[in-house]
Amino acid sequence: MANGWKAAAVTTDVSKEDDVKRMVAETVKRFGSIGILVNNAGIYPEIPLRQMSLDDFQKVLSVNLNGVFLCTKYASEQMIKQGNGGRVINITSIDALHPSSVGLAHYDASKHGVWGFTKNIALELAPYKIWVNAIAPGGILTPGVKKLQSSMPILGGVDMEKVMEAFMSKIPMRRLGEADDIGMVALFLASDMSAYMTGSQIIVDGGVLLS
Ligand SMILES: NC(=O)c1ccc[n+]([C@@H]2O[C@H](COP(=O)([O-])OP(=O)(O)OC[C@H]3O[C@@H](n4cnc5c(N)ncnc54)[C@H](O)[C@@H]3O)[C@@H](O)[C@H]2O)c1
Repeated sequence: MANGWKAAAVTTDVSKEDDVKRMVAETVKRFGSIGILVNNAGIYPEIPLRQMSLDDFQKVLSVNLNGVFLCTKYASEQMIKQGNGGRVINITSIDALHPSSVGLAHYDASKHGVWGFTKNIALELAPYKIWVNAIAPGGILTPGVKKLQSSMPILGGVDMEKVMEAFMSKIPMRRLGEADDIGMVALFLASDMSAYMTGSQIIVDGGVLLS
């Protein structure tokens, strides 16, 4: 990269164990060690309960929850082997605390799950000086949200455009977040500025949960 740092991409489906093992092995091969894991991959297809199949439900759980389990399992094994601690940062959602929209029952189940997983693993990995925390974003203008906005459907009689308008009107800061609003907090959790934190969840939502 321009500033001399190295980056690499390894194509991975986080819900597939062999893929995750390969991603961890490839990272160690290229960089020698793993210090920080950010579990960010996630999907949020809006589907009302009446139309949601078991496959729909399991797909969201397998990416959002199984994926966090698999990446944390294999990356933390490597961190333990290295013996000098590490950081795990799980991207949850305000939906880990409170639903933001109808049509996200599977998503909310997965994100509540990730928050529970975060706290338990923080306890288990503390003796190895691996600190595990979560970030709960509100509405962030990412490619996934842009796609959702441009194809706002009517789901099970619920006009999703109206749901989005209602969500926007509840943001005290009156704007959606940018990816960097989350990136800066991830930087904080990856650095010594958060040296005495583990098992915490930081809400980054422009104040939505206040309203
Ligand atoms: N954008 C928001 O408003 C918002 C709010 C709360 C939480 N989040 C969370 O933030 C995270 C990122 O969301 P986003 O808005 O940037 O979404 P996005 O759709 O813009 O990006 C998600 C990324 O995850 C990847 N991904 C999807 N399935 C995967 C899989 N099986 N294996 C590996 N990678 C996979 C996609 O390729 C994509 O790069 C998610 O966990 C999401 O739940 C987002």
